Amino acid sequence: MSRVAIVTGGTRGIGAAIAIALKTAGCKVAANYAGNDEAAARFRDETGIETYKWSVADYDACAAGIGQVEADLGPVDILVNNAGITRDAPFHKMTREQWREVMETNLNGVFNMTHPLWGGMRERKFGRVITISSINGQKGQFAQANYSAAKAGDIGFTKALAQEGARNGITVNAICPGYIATDMVMAVPEKVRESIIAQIPVGRLGEADEIARCVVFLASDDAGFITGSTITANGGQYFV
Ligand code: CAA
Repeated sequence: MSRVAIVTGGTRGIGAAIAIALKTAGCKVAANYAGNDEAAARFRDETGIETYKWSVADYDACAAGIGQVEADLGPVDILVNNAGITRDAPFHKMTREQWREVMETNLNGVFNMTHPLWGGMRERKFGRVITISSINGQKGQFAQANYSAAKAGDIGFTKALAQEGARNGITVNAICPGYIATDMVMAVPEKVRESIIAQIPVGRLGEADEIARCVVFLASDDAGFITGSTITANGGQYFV
């Protein structure tokens, strides 16, 4: 698969696994990140994948960053909207800032990245837009009114845009990971995490690679008939 791909939040966690898997599949990959320079430098040294720093919450920064990636690697065929943050709090304690930050990154960030790329994908009659939503966008989660709303929004975005992209060879899909062994999940208090693992029928957290393999499939030419879909990968914790 000799395509050009951008993975947002692509230097750590699920995003890093996706970037590596796409490179292994033959893609030219750009890994975007927003803040952690040290992790990005380590990722670049270990993988040889070029990293690009901008915040997906900033539309102009996305347009400029995409321009740089296209100058370096060529037109982008595959966009993986993976960047995401949590600001968990029970609703009565949730601040407007916690709501806003999660919306800006997890929902507006998907618009900010997809919109500047959409015209080129339409012209070239090929595109793959894959957004990493979450089990918590499907079922809701205590202390995540912000995150669950944004991740559910990502699924609605996917279903709407799939209808627009279909005639131009662009597929638009979402993946809903369950609880995956990443820094984000490890930040959940240990007791809470243990109670979550007890609710997962396969009896363990997922691995980032298990999500990356779903992305590689959806990004492939073989997946051209799959659009508007949601792949649920959560160890059986929640059936949609
Ligand atoms: N259901 C019902 N009640 C719950 C609950 C739940 N799932 N979790 C906590 N509670 C209750 C507690 O028992 C406590 O009740 P009491 O006051 O009667 O003791 C109350 O809610 C919470 O009170 P706290 O003062 O402890 O709350 P806090 O302000 O300290 O917040 C928290 C703690 C933020 C809720 C913390 O427990 C937490 O982070 N929970 C995890 C939330 C979670 O699962 N986030 C997912 C992160 S991973 C991710 O998002 C990736 C992905 O896509 C899957």
